[in-house]
Amino acid sequence: MKYRHVFHAGNFADVHKHVTLLALIRALSRKEKGFLLLDTHAGRGLYDLQSEGARKTAESHGGIALLEAATLEAARHDHWPPEIDDYLAIVKAIRRERSSRRVYPGSPMIALAAIRPQDRAVFIETQAEEHAALHRLLSRESGRIAAECADGYQRIRHWLPNSERRALVLIDPPYEDTTADFRAVEATACETLRRLPNAVVAIWYPIKHERDTEEWRNRLISRLPKPPDEARTPAISSDLWIHPPDSRVGLNGSGLLILNPPWQLAEQMANWLPILRELLDTERTGGATVRSLP
Ligand SMILES: C[S@@+](CC[C@H](N)C(=O)[O-])C[C@H]1O[C@@H](n2cnc3c(N)ncnc32)[C@H](O)[C@@H]1O
Repeated sequence: MKYRHVFHAGNFADVHKHVTLLALIRALSRKEKGFLLLDTHAGRGLYDLQSEGARKTAESHGGIALLEAATLEAARHDHWPPEIDDYLAIVKAIRRERSSRRVYPGSPMIALAAIRPQDRAVFIETQAEEHAALHRLLSRESGRIAAECADGYQRIRHWLPNSERRALVLIDPPYEDTTADFRAVEATACETLRRLPNAVVAIWYPIKHERDTEEWRNRLISRLPKPPDEARTPAISSDLWIHPPDSRVGLNGSGLLILNPPWQLAEQMANWLPILRELLDTERTGGATVRSLP
């Protein structure tokens, strides 16, 4: 596998995903009872934006850097979303802690900054080097935090169902072998809900061709196991594209499919997503939608 997330760290898709991840953790934290956070594709946890890889692509310039510049304009917005402030405050705090403005936190660091003592987290990463970096980063964390070097798709079977019976599962593969990852995501989402029907599952996907995305999402939803007391598993999608969704640039947009979304998440998203789009889509060729599915 050649994929290294450092080439993409802090880009528009990371911003979209991490604002959403944080809002999901906050939503699950409304209940006192702890939950398990399972990050099946965790990465190395922290990225140096001045490293050769990150400087080569400079993708963070079109992501976190735009957001930071924009906070000065927050006062101009009547409905500036607290979710964006929450995310930026965490990025800032992590940088302050490390005395470095060069770093960008991955999903594990964002999650660790937000979970509570009664919650647990498991971060799974398959590449030995990435896992070693993550392991070092978490070495001082307590036993309720684990970092495994393994196949995240498979480890679902080990961790679920969990004793808390509440879980947030983030599935964020590289899609390097696109077809295989889409298929594995489908199977993992189904297996997760078979094991824990109320699990909140957040799946990140690339938007390259609108029609393919739509087809895949519909297929996945049609295959989900039927929950015990409802006709179907509730789902919402949050799509943010910065290039026309059928253009040939490669990654046109960032999508998130949320299964069993927490109460009012769709309403909150409908507030923050257009503002994220306004900040990140500088060429005004993109768009954003939040939809209940199917
Ligand atoms: C998109 S990156 C993850 C980024 C991270 N979730 C974040 O938001 O900061 C995908 C990661 O998954 C890892 N990976 C690929 N296949 C995997 C698998 N089957 N199980 C676990 N990790 C995998 C890659 O090495 C890469 O670090």
